[in-house]
This record gives sequence, structure tokens and C-alpha cells, in this order.
Amino acid sequence: MRIEPLIYRGVRRIRRVSGSEILVRGGRVLTGWGMVEADVLVREGRVAAVGTALEPGGTRVLDASGMLVLPGAIDEHVHSREPGMTWKEDFSTMTRAAAAGGVTTVADMPNTSPPVDSPERVAAKGRDVAPRANVDYAIFAALTDSNAPRIDELVRAGAIGLKAYMGPTTGGLEPPDDWSVALALRFSRTTGIPVFFHAENGPLIEGLSGELRGAGRSDPAAHSEARPPVAEEVEVARIAAIAGAMGGNAVIAHVSSAGALELIERSRGALRAEACAHHLIFTTEDYAARGLLIKVNPPVRTREHVEALWRGVRSGLIRTIASDHAPHAPEEKEGDVWSAASGIPGVQTLLPFAVDAALRGLIRVEDVPRLLSENPARNLGIYPRKGSLAPGSDGDMVVIDPRGSWRVREDDLFYKHPEVSPYVGMEFRGRIKYTLLRGEIVYEDGGVAGGPRGRWVTRGGVR
Ligand code: NCD
Ligand code: ZN
Repeated sequence: MRIEPLIYRGVRRIRRVSGSEILVRGGRVLTGWGMVEADVLVREGRVAAVGTALEPGGTRVLDASGMLVLPGAIDEHVHSREPGMTWKEDFSTMTRAAAAGGVTTVADMPNTSPPVDSPERVAAKGRDVAPRANVDYAIFAALTDSNAPRIDELVRAGAIGLKAYMGPTTGGLEPPDDWSVALALRFSRTTGIPVFFHAENGPLIEGLSGELRGAGRSDPAAHSEARPPVAEEVEVARIAAIAGAMGGNAVIAHVSSAGALELIERSRGALRAEACAHHLIFTTEDYAARGLLIKVNPPVRTREHVEALWRGVRSGLIRTIASDHAPHAPEEKEGDVWSAASGIPGVQTLLPFAVDAALRGLIRVEDVPRLLSENPARNLGIYPRKGSLAPGSDGDMVVIDPRGSWRVREDDLFYKHPEVSPYVGMEFRGRIKYTLLRGEIVYEDGGVAGGPRGRWVTRGGVR
């Protein structure tokens, strides 16, 4: 697809056409390149023009004056829990929450039951979730020692990328060995397929957990001590070495420590960093008020690590921010620190968090579409069809009132279990007014609209 100049100045008369059209009028259109006051016209699901004083030929006009207009967020790291773990969440609840949070494409992780680790399971999942998808979706396959020699089949079946769990976490997938990682990265180098890594070291975590448990520790902070920065650094260093030799598109998911970030910086482009909202917000001090609700892998860390992550976000070393939306049922998040489930739901609060950070001056406003739309789309190999508002891109958009604000209430969250969100009670500046998916309104002022019309996004296009 050709990228055309973004902005047409002056009146452009748009021919009346058959089919659907929507004009988002007079907003401040925000892309990674900057902000400009403009109208956005979407025709037949694609951005047809961005310019000033566009004349609508169709019916629907959304008044966006005073509002920010961004490309829909792409959450490159979510766990819908389909197939097989739908007591925690399902595709319907997750994608309704996504629509409400301005996320128009989600990339779903494979640590399910059964895990998505074969071409058949990729194909079945892509097909089966469609009737419950309120936003567009992409599907990750798990990298395992048995599928590593035939990754091409996973991709042909529709996998957007691979996920390698290097250490213990929800789903209990066995870590791929170094050869499987090398095969995946070599395949990635020739095809651009991303390989996402959960980088935590099993033996260190198991050893430390055993010791802390044996010493009678049962407070939530013991979880962070059992998974210290070194457990992340060891795996990042190993992946950096293999990626340095093999090339490919290696993404370190949910980077949480200063040391891991340094290793990524030193890899000189061999590794890309993804941060998660919760690691930019919560510290070990928050265990006191939020307890096991913030138990997550990798764990929340001390203030100095959080500050290092913010520096990484501002410098561009951290290329993407995702939610790692990882919901569990309330009873699974309770009880003993060692047996409680790890994971925080967050797909609905991801974009509000980032917009709030921009409105508070922690990042620049144009960082928001760069971190949440453009770079995730690039990671997944779907830019500029997704993650862009250039003519020809899918008409995925969020309209945000920067004068509004949102104090998160359980009732506002579309999750299956809103009560396990540690964001309840927090206040974000800015308020989402509309979310558009390929030109159709999927969320408007508190309500999910229009029914499930999400489509499966693969490297070949939208199925
Ligand atoms: C994730 C989950 O529950 O699926 N949990 C988590 O703590 N992040 C798995 C993962 O991404 O590690
Ligand atoms: Zn993970």
C-alpha cells in the first residue's frame, strides 16, 4: 500500500458514493508525526481523506471539535482466555472492553487450554472467536520445541507472530530451548514475523521461591523478591546473544527492570522493548493497598525501576506500550501469595493511561499514537493498514475529549471480572467519546455499539 501525504489543505469536494461513509469533523488529528486540525473521512471502511473543510457526501458526521482524534490503539499483548479458560474472560467481554478503551485491534496470546501451538489450533481459534469479536484481532502461536522446525505452517494458518515463554507463568508452557529460539529468529529475519519473549528465568525463580516459602514468607511483596531483576536480565541477555547472531524481529514483552532495559539498549537494535502500563504505574509499595491484585509476571518493582522505564519510554528505547491484559477470576486472585494467579486486566485502561500521561506532560501527545498504534502495528507487520490515519489505512479511530476525565468504577469496566482491576478508583485525564472500527462506531459515551463485527487480521490482510 502506498502512503500518501497525510494532509490535504483546502476544500476537497468528496463525491457522493454508495456504501458507508463517516466524517469525523474538526478534531485535532494526532499521529506520530504531530497534531493538526483536520477532518477525517472514512469510506467503505478505509480512510479516504484527511484534510480541512472536507464536504461530506454521505450521511453521518461526528463533531470532533475540541477533541483529539487518534488512530485506534493496537494492544499487541492480551490474553482473552479463549480457548478453554473462559471463566476468567472471553473474547466477547475482552473485546467489548477493548472497544470501550479505544483499542481497535488486539493481538491475543497462546497460553490457553489447549495452548495455541499448532497450525490447526491457530486456524480454529481465528475462526471460532469471530462471532464474539467487537474489535479486530490477531493471533499469536506459542513457540515450542516441537513446532520450531515448521513455523511456516503456523504463519500460513494465520499466526501474526510467535510467543516464547522462557520461564514459568500462567498456562505452564515449557520454555523453548536455545535452538528453537534460534530457528524462530532465523525465520523471523527472512519473513519479519515477530517473536515475543516472556523473559524470566525458571531455575532462578524456582530456587528463590522455594527459599522464601521455606522461610515462611507469605506477604505479597515476596512475589517480587522471588522474581528479581536478575531473573529477567539473564533471559534478556541470552535472547540478545541469539538475536545478535540470527537477526530477526525479537520483542522483549513487558520489560520491567532497569537492567533488562540496559541490555536491550546495548543490543543495538537486535531487541525491541515493550512496556506494560502496570509496570509504569505500580511499585512494590502498592502491595500494601492493592495486595495480590497487582501480582503479575514479571512483578511490579521499586520506584527506581519504574523511573528507568519512564526514561525508556521518553527516549524511544521502549517502542510500544501494551496492557498484557491477563484477567483471572476473583477467587483465583485471593489467598496465598504463592498460589494466587499472576496477571492484571488492563485492555480498557491502556489508552486512557497513556492519554493521561500525555495530558500531564509525562510524555508528548504524539508519543501516544507512536507507542500505542504505529509501533505495535509495525511489530505485528500490519502497518500502515493498521495503526495509521493515512489515506488507505483502515478507518480505526478514537475520539477523546481532553477536557473530560474518567474516575474508573467497576461498573464502567466491560470485563468478566471488573472487581479484580487494580485501576478501580484511579482518575485519568481525558475521556473517550467514540471508538470507530473501520468507519463504524463500536463505542459511544459509555456504551458498546453495533455488535461484534471484528475481523481476523493476518499478515496477508483482514480475513
Ligand atoms: C499472564 C497470564 O495470566 O496469562 N500473566 C502475567 O502475570 N503476565 C501470562 C504472562 O504474560 O506471563
Ligand atoms: Zn508474559
